[in-house]
Amino acid sequence: MEKIKLFEEVFGTLPTLDVSAAGRINLIGEHVDYCGGLVMPASLNLCCRVLARRNGTNFVNVYADDLKVTAKIDLNDLDASRSLGWGKYQAGVFDVMKKEGAPLVGCDMLYSCTVPFGSGLSSSAAIEVATAVAMNELTGSKYDLKETAVLCQKAENTYCGVNCGIMDQFASAMGKKEKAILLNCKTLEYEYIPFALGDYELIVANCNKPHALVTSKYNERRQEVEEALEKLQTVLPEATCLADITPEAFEGAKHVLSGKILDRAKHVVYECTRVKEAAAALKAGDIATLAKLINASHDSLSKLYEVTGKEPDALAYAARETEGCIASRMIGAGFGGCTISLVEKGKTEAFKQAVGKKYTLDTGYNAAFYDTSIEDGVKVKHL
Ligand code: GLA
Repeated sequence: MEKIKLFEEVFGTLPTLDVSAAGRINLIGEHVDYCGGLVMPASLNLCCRVLARRNGTNFVNVYADDLKVTAKIDLNDLDASRSLGWGKYQAGVFDVMKKEGAPLVGCDMLYSCTVPFGSGLSSSAAIEVATAVAMNELTGSKYDLKETAVLCQKAENTYCGVNCGIMDQFASAMGKKEKAILLNCKTLEYEYIPFALGDYELIVANCNKPHALVTSKYNERRQEVEEALEKLQTVLPEATCLADITPEAFEGAKHVLSGKILDRAKHVVYECTRVKEAAAALKAGDIATLAKLINASHDSLSKLYEVTGKEPDALAYAARETEGCIASRMIGAGFGGCTISLVEKGKTEAFKQAVGKKYTLDTGYNAAFYDTSIEDGVKVKHL
């Protein structure tokens, strides 16, 4: 149903605001944002749309059009919403805004999200950013889009219990049509690079394996790299984060690490170098080099960082074996979710058929392929 009509049906009145915030892919730079590294995400056409209107109360009523659930968030008692299933990300955003002294108003909000949940395409960041932008618009408060990204990351860290980095929220808030963002997660300096893949197209595929324990495994990786940094700082005292450490310095210092901790740190140090090389390759239109780096990123996530798992590996390797594909890797937190592949133009339909078939034979799951394009991260319309 047309969403404005649905809003009227659910809330008995018309919306005054139409906001959307995007999901994202990440070309390269995985599991390095929380180590101060460089990342290269881009915002998608898949997005979270929010229709909203002030309701003159101290409550925010949020409704999800696909799940058909409503949650009532009490702005005077935000702690009470910590136990919400759906609605928690929104409450987290309001909680951080309140603590930062930003104005909040009661309102009705209808959510339509085309970013598949739990897919590694950042549906949670899209919900957070759309919520924050909508509240900002309704109250006329102070956050610019970069500050909005930081606020939303804080909500996820402090309210939702996911110790995530800044990449997803930044990509959702700051993404630009047909541009990749080269973001330094230590300084939040960024530049846009034309998302131009020459003779290739980007294909996003979901391995459709239900995620399990992503949050706990994600938080565990963060602890492991923090331990690695502390140990490396005993010999490299000037390093403030793993991304500060060059491969040369790492090779000279790695004797202080062993086992898994050594593997985790090695992934981060070399992935940071790959992002620099990938940015140069993308700027130069050297897609063959970009492809090699994307493949190396996946292999490192699989072997050293151990965040892929059977299905994402099967999907990426099935893609790479298929005609016309020069690169494939998993994106996002991992343990399931999506891959991106670079596929020769004109061969994408045959690619999807062949990969889908092989992946199902290998794993028993059916992959999904999305029609994606790179679009502006945030869109705002007053109705
Ligand atoms: C998730 C997190 C991001 C980032 C990626 C891995 O998407 O939200 O901050 O750490 O995983 O690169």
